[in-house]
Amino acid sequence: MDSSVSRSTSVVSNLSFLAVLIVFLISSSSLTSTEAYDALDPEGNITMKWDVMSWTPDGYVAVVTMFNFQKYRHIPSPGWTLGWKWAKKEVIWSMVGAQTTEQGDCSKYKGNIPHCCKKDPTVVDLLPGTPYNQQIANCCKGGVLNSWVQDPGNAASSFQISVGAAGTTNKTVRVPRNFTLMGPGPGYTCGPAKVVRPTKFVTTDTRRTTQAMMTWNITCTYSQFLAQRTPTCCVSLSSFYNETIVGCPTCACGCQNNRTESGACLDPDTPHLASVVSPPTKKGTILPPLVQCTRHLCPIRVHWHVKQNYKEYWRVKITITNFNYRLNYSQWNMVAQHPNFDNITQIFSFNYKSLTPYAGLNDTAMLWGVKFYNDFLSEAGPLGNVQSEILFRKDQATFSFEKGWAFPRRIYFNGDNCVMPPPDTYPFLPSGGFRPEVSVFASVLLPVLLVSLLLLRVSFILTVLPLTNDSVSGSVRVRPWLGLF
Ligand SMILES: *[C@@H]1O[C@H](CO)[C@@H](O)[C@H](O)[C@H]1NC(C)=O
Ligand SMILES: *[C@@H]1O[C@H](CO)[C@@H](O)[C@H](O)[C@H]1NC(C)=O
Ligand SMILES: *[C@@H]1O[C@H](CO)[C@@H](O)[C@H](O)[C@H]1NC(C)=O
Ligand SMILES: *[C@@H]1O[C@H](CO)[C@@H](O)[C@H](O)[C@H]1NC(C)=O
Ligand SMILES: *[C@@H]1O[C@H](CO)[C@@H](O)[C@H](O)[C@H]1NC(C)=O
Ligand SMILES: *[C@@H]1O[C@H](CO)[C@@H](O)[C@H](O)[C@H]1NC(C)=O
Ligand SMILES: *[C@@H]1O[C@H](CO)[C@@H](O)[C@H](O)[C@H]1NC(C)=O
Ligand SMILES: *[C@@H]1O[C@H](CO)[C@@H](O)[C@H](O)[C@H]1NC(C)=O
Ligand SMILES: *[C@@H]1O[C@H](CO)[C@@H](O)[C@H](O)[C@H]1NC(C)=O
Repeated sequence: MDSSVSRSTSVVSNLSFLAVLIVFLISSSSLTSTEAYDALDPEGNITMKWDVMSWTPDGYVAVVTMFNFQKYRHIPSPGWTLGWKWAKKEVIWSMVGAQTTEQGDCSKYKGNIPHCCKKDPTVVDLLPGTPYNQQIANCCKGGVLNSWVQDPGNAASSFQISVGAAGTTNKTVRVPRNFTLMGPGPGYTCGPAKVVRPTKFVTTDTRRTTQAMMTWNITCTYSQFLAQRTPTCCVSLSSFYNETIVGCPTCACGCQNNRTESGACLDPDTPHLASVVSPPTKKGTILPPLVQCTRHLCPIRVHWHVKQNYKEYWRVKITITNFNYRLNYSQWNMVAQHPNFDNITQIFSFNYKSLTPYAGLNDTAMLWGVKFYNDFLSEAGPLGNVQSEILFRKDQATFSFEKGWAFPRRIYFNGDNCVMPPPDTYPFLPSGGFRPEVSVFASVLLPVLLVSLLLLRVSFILTVLPLTNDSVSGSVRVRPWLGLF
């Protein structure tokens, strides 16, 4: 009786393990093929809500709010650009908190001239510092939207729009069509506007509720495949138990020999570096990115170092390095997937939140900088890196240093999937294990050995440290002694 029960539970747990495995395989295979959605944030989207606040003699006034419901992808500077097609001959009389980029042909209007007469208006946010009488709540951030997990207070953007030559009741109004969203580049696809239950607004003292005349929603989703960007980051690996540093794959983000505009790079030893990085330009021109010459040509490298082994814990050091001379990343974030994240014990100097894209699978962590301390990743150079250490508690059932288990399964930086080295190149445990049995003879000799090694290591660190900060890529052997500690 008892044994049959335990057998059936073990079958069930095996089945659920299988299910998890299948989900994982499906998600990772879709990731490599088309990546129609983000496997680590399957629900992620940007939702726009149009609330018609009042009817006017020839149309309506609406407040449009964009919510970034993506856990870690944000819209960086120069911000979002929103477009749509009017269903009829609508015009925009005025806008608050945003503007259209072109007015279009308003020649048939006399006296009062609309803000925009185009059939397909293109709207951008206003810049910070806009006069207060042209602002509304959540506007005027230059189109920058932070991610939902990192800063929900700055994950929304609003503007007010006054529409003319439109329907004036909820029966005659026609919702706009063909929404497009650039964030700031391509990648987003927007669905059709759907009329939903009117939004209810509660006054700040919560004593009165008002509601919109009519509300419609538009949902846009991101796909890295649609964005068709070359990768923007790569991963390198090392460990205390093997001296090999596995660098980012060659040409991970482009190739040096192909000197197309994406392949241009800069040698850090270039004389007059500063004048090359920021040549004198006219105000307002945007310079193309300029990365340091490396084998991988990625603007960002994430290095994962398996640093220490304790009886019940193990420690990882993460270093994010910026190789882009022309970009400071403010409010960066990274996402890492590793099975031991369900037993994370401590994380130093980064913020942490567990993401659970699938029920029961707690292996994904979002990490980002601490405000005013390291949330700003400076341009390439001596300050262009941020670091953290993570302490994991070993789950004896799964923990292992073998077969590259200690390395991450997946890394994202600012929502972009980073290129990993091929698994067969991972540093592996020397055969015979890294903690050999200690004989009596060795235990007498060991202290002597240790002292001499320590001296060696100190002199070694002094000579090697400048290198490791670096442009070391490839399987370079630079740490002959560290493996012994
Ligand atoms: C958009 O994201 C929100 C928050 O994750 C989610 O509740 C909603 O269902 C999503 N909408 C769509 C259409 O996927
Ligand atoms: C339009 O307004 C009427 C009442 O004025 C309401 O009954 C109806 O549900 C509304 N329709 C929509 C689509 O909001
Ligand atoms: C615009 O949207 C309509 C439906 O709302 C669709 O039939 C049409 O193909 C779209 N046009 C473009 C250019 O996407
Ligand atoms: C419409 O969007 C708002 C804001 O994102 C959301 O709260 C609401 O649930 C959405 N309505 C529907 C029916 O999806
Ligand atoms: C240059 O680019 C072409 C096509 O993108 C590719 O086939 C070729 O291998 C590249 N050359 C080098 C040296 O990487
Ligand atoms: C990055 O930030 C530093 C310090 O704020 C500033 O001096 C530098 O010009 C910025 N670089 C770029 C490319 O914006
Ligand atoms: C995932 O694991 C971390 C670390 O043990 C824990 O803090 C977090 O609450 C877990 N999340 C879920 C959804 O179980
Ligand atoms: C690790 O986390 C899992 C799931 O939260 C839990 O079942 C297990 O006991 C934890 N292991 C250790 C060693 O804390
Ligand atoms: C370290 O790992 C590499 C694979 O990346 C392997 O070739 C090498 O033999 C390993 N070193 C030792 C001492 O096992």
